[in-house]
Amino acid sequence: MGKASKDRRDIFYRLAKEQGWRARSAFKLLQADETFNLLEGLTRAVDLCAAPGGWSQVLSKRMYEPRSEKDREQVKIIAVDMQGMAPIDGVTQLRADITKESTAEEIINFFDGKKAELVVSDGAPDVTGLHDWDAYMQADLLLSALSIATYILEEGGSFMGKVYRAANTSNVYLQLQRFFKDVCLFKPSASRSSSIEAFVVCRQFCMPEGHVPCNLRMEWFDKPEEALKDISGKTERTVVHLPFVAHECEYDADLSYEIDANYIPQEAVQKPLTAAYQEVLEKTKTMSLKYNSYVVYHDEEASSSEPSTSKKCNA
Ligand SMILES: C[S@@+](CC[C@H](N)C(=O)[O-])C[C@H]1O[C@@H](n2cnc3c(N)ncnc32)[C@H](O)[C@@H]1O
Repeated sequence: MGKASKDRRDIFYRLAKEQGWRARSAFKLLQADETFNLLEGLTRAVDLCAAPGGWSQVLSKRMYEPRSEKDREQVKIIAVDMQGMAPIDGVTQLRADITKESTAEEIINFFDGKKAELVVSDGAPDVTGLHDWDAYMQADLLLSALSIATYILEEGGSFMGKVYRAANTSNVYLQLQRFFKDVCLFKPSASRSSSIEAFVVCRQFCMPEGHVPCNLRMEWFDKPEEALKDISGKTERTVVHLPFVAHECEYDADLSYEIDANYIPQEAVQKPLTAAYQEVLEKTKTMSLKYNSYVVYHDEEASSSEPSTSKKCNA
């Protein structure tokens, strides 16, 4: 799809470039803030799965930029992602995997004895196109984000995370209701109606009595058959219906909008530092895939990845 065509078909992609956001997803957090006042007066926040940094930009714009130099000293925002991202004023970056407990420890150290008022997570695993599987993986990532929140959120704090609405999501909703007094499902207008994506907005964090922060994914993995049966829908399961809140605005993410004939598409505000396909590019550097494909044997001799040490097959 050409840039102009994408600008026509995706109004939020176009607006993001015009307004200086690195990613169209910035609007999703802005719209959540507009609806729930999530960022009002905050000084300590965690942005999980933050790259390329659209949500961190929003946090910086709302929490850091409007403050005086003196007041900025008390602002602490940490952005965590496995990918690197270009710097943002007032935001500290941590390159780490949110499924690891060590990441929770590093975030705790960052706050220096204090706790965060907000944890947000827009994390998304690589999508396969198999909806149930994607939803399962998404739910798993959300549980990691929730686990980190249980370590670091102060009483009364808020959490927002991405979910894919699917058969197994009730299990996740139940987990969220254990920790927050107010949990609802939010659909920003920047998120296409045709997409199963939505966000849980959870307020009033309240640690259940006797709960010791831990990796909540383990509970999920302890009962894999149950989780999988839930996905296939073959067993009776608890269905949780959350209050649903939709954001409305003048633009519809599913519609195409005409652009002026003289319109010149703008460049992205910030290109990703590392492309998602970087690893594949690196691996294919030493192999010619033009006319032949190769079977690479993973023994010591072949580990140099030279085609000569691999068996060559006609494509
Ligand atoms: C949709 S993007 C986030 C966009 C971001 N909110 C923004 O506004 O720019 C999803 C991110 O999740 C990250 N991610 C996925 N799994 C992760 C994990 N286990 N730990 C850390 N980051 C992860 C990916 O690297 C990717 O950058």
